[in-house]
Order: sequence, then C-alpha cells, then structure tokens
Amino acid sequence: MRKLVNSLLLVCIAIFATAYASATEILDLSSIYHLSGILEMGDEQMNIEEKATSGDASSKTSEAIEGPDQSVKSLATDLERTEPAQQTMPEPGSTDSNSNSDSNFNPNSNLNPNINLNPNLNPDPNPDQNLNLNLNPNPPVSDQPAAGPEKSASIQKMTKYLDLLILVNKTNSLPADFVPPDLVKPDIPFCFQEDLPKKYLRREAAQAISRLIRQAQRENIHIYGVSAYRSYQTQKDIFTRKARELGEKEANRLSAYPGQSEHQTGLAIDLTSSRVGFKLTQNFGSTPEGRWLSQNAADFGFIIRYPAGKEHITGYSYEPWHLRYVGVEAAQVIADKKITLEEYLRDYPSPNW
Ligand code: DAL
Ligand code: ZN
Repeated sequence: MRKLVNSLLLVCIAIFATAYASATEILDLSSIYHLSGILEMGDEQMNIEEKATSGDASSKTSEAIEGPDQSVKSLATDLERTEPAQQTMPEPGSTDSNSNSDSNFNPNSNLNPNINLNPNLNPDPNPDQNLNLNLNPNPPVSDQPAAGPEKSASIQKMTKYLDLLILVNKTNSLPADFVPPDLVKPDIPFCFQEDLPKKYLRREAAQAISRLIRQAQRENIHIYGVSAYRSYQTQKDIFTRKARELGEKEANRLSAYPGQSEHQTGLAIDLTSSRVGFKLTQNFGSTPEGRWLSQNAADFGFIIRYPAGKEHITGYSYEPWHLRYVGVEAAQVIADKKITLEEYLRDYPSPNW
C-alpha cells in the first residue's frame, strides 16, 4: 500500500514539474527578439548608403549602386509584378521568385544556431587595425534571458523597443541583438530586385508605406524604396566604411554608429526617384517627389526625420529621403509644428520614452 502511495506521489510531482517548466518557457519574453532572428545581410555591396561619396562630404549625396538603366529595368519588373499587400518571410526551404541567386540573403537566418545572443561590447571578430573607432559610444544593454524581477525589466525593454515612438539617436542606442519581430516586405517598387533584408519593415510601417506609394502613384508621383531594415552588423559595416572614407566625425553627420540607426528599428525607409538617378541626395528634397513626400508623408504616419536646419537637434544633416514611421497622430503634429521627433517627445512624452 505504501509503495502505491509513493508511486502516486511521484507521478503527481512529475506532472507538476512538467507544467511549471512549460509555463516558464512560455513566459520567457526575452526570447521574443532573440528568436525573431537576425537577418544578416549577406550582400553588403547592395547597400546604397554605404557607398559614400568619395572624399566629398559636403555634397551630402550617397551614390546609387545600380546605374539608371539597370535600375529602370529592375523597376519595370517590380512594377509589373503583382504581390500581396505584404510578403512575410518565406517558409524554410521555399524559394522567392524575386530573389537573386547571387544573393546570400537567407530570410530564415533566424534559424541559424550561430546567432550571437550575448554580444559583448567589442563583438567584431575582425577588428579593423587601421581604424581606431569607438563604434559603441553608448554600449547596448546586454539582454540575457532574465529571471524574476529581471524578467519584468526585460518585458519593459521590449515594450520600449517596440514602441512606434521609439527614439533612436546619438544618445539612445538599440542593443546589438535587437531585431524587430514583425518584419514584412512592403508592396512597393524598389530600385533593386533581390529579396534582401533592406526591403523589410515592421508590419504597420510596411502597410503605411504601401498606401503612401500607391497614393503617390495615383497622383503621377513615382517613388522607389532604397533601404529599410538594417541589422546592427550591417550598420557597423556601413559606418566603418564611411568613416574610412570621410573620417569618423564627418561620417557621423551622415551615417549612424551601429545601434544608433533608426533603420535597425524596422520603422525607417530611404526613398528616391528616377529624377535624381535613384540616388540618395539632398537634391531629392526639391524634386516633385521629394516635395510630395514632405507635404503628404504625415497623412500616412511618416515624418522626414532629418529636416534641413535641425542638425543641432537630430545630430544629422538634411536627409529628405529618410522617412520614419511614427503613426498618423504624432506625424501630423510633427509636420504641423515643423518640429523633430526629439522635440515632439519632449513636448508629448510617451509612457515608454
Ligand atoms: N543616415 C542615417 C542617419 C542612418 O545612418 O541611420
Ligand atoms: Zn536612412
């Protein structure tokens, strides 16, 4: 009889332990962005912003990689294509008809077991010996899976990073391993064809940019995507290259240190048009396309994040091509008052910021 009672007790303990373990796993929110995966860009050469003007920082132009002819060809294909409103990451093993076989982009790289979940402050395995850059002036907080009170700190951090009003600038950095969990591909024409991470945006921003570009097209304004989401590592590569060309200080007027780029949030996108040869140039601001964006972006929840004359606040020179999604309400206030996101958040603080 005693044996039977002991056995029953053991079974109960085992059931309880299993249930507890599952609950703990489910509640481990720190896995949200770890598991969401790091979409490393395999093909760095494809990035337009990393191709800085050679030597002349004052022109504030980033060169398009594809020449106009090539771009127009790929754009024509893009425009002919009919896509669903947003394309999510392809399933493992599936092929994307738009992808370039030369591209190293693996949209399922979140399954890569080699993801560095705990980047230290100098994670570069191949530090550039010739360039003594402090690439991490505001070291990101390490986001180890947390337990107990640390777990709620982890939840708070995720709430903050996923807030549409997130402030990322020279004094507010993202952790190196932060990857937005809801990246999708917007239904807009890009000036290149490959399926690369830089085509992706967070879901709400992707829907909004698709609506914006459709409306522009109805008004005979043709705008193309250049670069949206970027990982920490991609930004690091871009910045390092730019600093080598222009010097670190000048480079940082145009390009963000890794962890300090809004592109890592999945809420920013660079846009261009054929009129400026598909480049990222300040001249874009005075074209019909640039003017249309400046006048209409707010109706779709976007702001021109780095306006002219606000470098002392934003830290970056004028970028008429860089749009940031903040939601319609905030965007309209920012546009009406001609203020920056920094000023908006000072006047209308977000609970998370
Ligand atoms: N060009 C902007 C500032 C960036 O690098 O994110
Ligand atoms: Zn940008």
